[in-house]
Order: sequence, then structure tokens, then C-alpha cells
Amino acid sequence: MNAGLIGIGKYVPPHILTNADLEKRMDTSDEWIRTMTGIQERRIADDSIDSSHMAYNAAADAIKDAGIKPEEIGLILVATVTPDQPFPSVSAMIQDQLGAKNAAAMDISAACSGYMYGIVTAKQFVESGTYDYVLVVGVEKLSKITDWEDRNTAVLFGDGAGAAVIGKVSEGRGVLSFELGADGSGGKYLYQDEKLIMNGREVFKFAVRQMGQSAINVIEKAGLTKEDVDFLIPHQANIRIMESARQRLDLPVEKMSKTVHKYGNTSSASIPISLFDDVAEGKVKDDDVIVLVGFGGGLTWGALCIKWGR
Ligand code: COA
Repeated sequence: MNAGLIGIGKYVPPHILTNADLEKRMDTSDEWIRTMTGIQERRIADDSIDSSHMAYNAAADAIKDAGIKPEEIGLILVATVTPDQPFPSVSAMIQDQLGAKNAAAMDISAACSGYMYGIVTAKQFVESGTYDYVLVVGVEKLSKITDWEDRNTAVLFGDGAGAAVIGKVSEGRGVLSFELGADGSGGKYLYQDEKLIMNGREVFKFAVRQMGQSAINVIEKAGLTKEDVDFLIPHQANIRIMESARQRLDLPVEKMSKTVHKYGNTSSASIPISLFDDVAEGKVKDDDVIVLVGFGGGLTWGALCIKWGR
């Protein structure tokens, strides 16, 4: 029996911040941002929208899509490095708001890889028979830890949330394989000291190396080859990093998810937001083999090979 994603949801705040808006605030250009990152605009949550608000909205949609009642959820996992406050956790806040009165709740801190860590943890609980349903949310309000004086990082990030309900799926479908990893020696390249601090060059090198390798590893662990892969959903950090992973899998452009141009890097929310859009647009269909791969601060990484469908 495999666990899989039986319902998905997404929320992005309404306010759009374009590259042209950033040109007015700092010494940058639309051309530099597009060429170096692929980003054209991102969503920014205003003061009335915190992480719990975005997480709640994405989660409520995922639960509705799954066709279950909130009371049936056994565990809520929220991946975030930008919770409303250190505690109570975002997961406990939305447990109450959703009316998921039988669910345990905890947050996961694995930066941009957090959603992958969440799905893998949920899979263990579902496949062991401990819980019928686990809710996993990736949510970030990165705008509140962004240093708006630092053009090296301010242009990269955005806010948003994506969610999934994990439950049992039919024979042959679901999460076929996974890989999680960490290298704490690279923590110095991407961290928060009040505001977000990054060594872009080092993170870039790590990401290019790790994304392709993790994607290959999960394909092999699933007993498949590159030719079996129908669609790739890489963490939406930078189009050049995403392209390197696509080329490693020899996939055509149309077989890779791309939302970085409209949302920027939303950290733990980027893969579930992309997955939601890809399913909505018919790019991911039942029985497709899809590979999800992410990396982030920690340093951490994670990948999943999934046969889509309930
Ligand atoms: N607008 C205009 N110029 C900018 C700029 C901006 N927003 N940000 C940096 N620059 C300038 C730099 O000041 C530098 O100028 P200089 O040569 O006069 O000193 C030049 O562009 C090159 O900067 P550098 O940082 O060396 O560029 P890079 O090739 O490493 O690209 C990133 C920068 C951020 C696009 C790239 O490093 C990257 O994507 N790294 C990974 C980041 C990431 O994915 N983080 C999230 C992980 S989850």
C-alpha cells in the first residue's frame, strides 16, 4: 500500500510586486533580474496576511479537494521558516481554525526543502497505519525577513502557501521513492540573522550539483529510468538552476514546471504551489510519473518520485 497526495490546495496573496516596482526602490533592473533568475514578479503579503492565514486557505482547499472532513486528519505538518511567531506553531493555529480537533500538530524547519520533509514524514504515518490522513502545508512570508536594502536577495523571494492531504491511494500510485538529506556545514551560506543572508554563488553551486543528483537517485530508487519521467517539478529558486536539473534528466522544456516568473522563490511553498498550477493546467495527469526536487537552507535537500493519482 502506497501513500499519495489525495487533495491539493494553494494560496497566494493578491498584491503583486513587479521588477519595475523594485527598480524604483533599489539599484536593479528588470533585465538583470529576468536574465539572472527568470523572475518577473512575486506576491507580497501585507500586514493583515500572516503565514497562518495563507496556510489555512491552502489547507482548507486541499481538504475540500480530498473530500474528507477536518476531524478525520490525524496529524498536521506545516513546513515554514517564517511562522507568525516562534510558538504556538502555525500547525496548531490552523488545527483550531480548520476544526481538525483530532489532529496532532507540529511545524517543520527545513527551509525550502520543508515540504519534501513533510510529505516523507506524512507517508511514514499513513503507510504504518497510524493515521488515515496527514495534512502537509508549505507556507512562507519571506517578505518579513527580507532585507529590502540588499539587492542581492530582495529581488528573489515571494510569499505564498501550498498544501496536500496525504492518504492511501490505489495500487501502483502514490509516492514511489524519496530522498532527504542535509549538510549542516553549508549553513553559513544561507541563514537568518534577523534578516535573510545569502552567499548566492555558493548556494548556486550546491543547488546545481544536488538537484540533478537527487532527481536521478529517486528515479533509480523507484526502479525507473529517466525515460519513464513525464514531468519535473523543481524548487522554483532560479530558472538557471531549474534548467540544469531538466537537462540532467534530458527532458524537453514543456515537461518542467515553471512558476518562478510569477511567484519568485516562495521557499517551502514553491513546489506545492507549482504542483497545484500544473495539475490545474492539465500538465500533470493521472498515472504520470513526476519528480519533485528541492534544496534550501540548512543546507537541506529532498526529492520524491510519484505516480500521480488517487
Ligand atoms: N540587480 C542588479 N545587479 C545585481 C543584483 C540585482 N538585484 N544583485 C547582484 N547584482 C550584481 C552584483 O552586485 C555583482 O556586481 P559586481 O560584479 O559589480 O560586483 C553582479 O551582479 C554579479 O553578482 P553575483 O552575486 O556574483 O551574481 P551571480 O552570478 O552569483 O548571481 C544570483 C546572483 C543570486 C542570481 C545567483 O547567485 C543565485 O541564483 N544563487 C542561488 C540563490 C538561491 O537559489 N537561493 C535560494 C535558495 S533556496
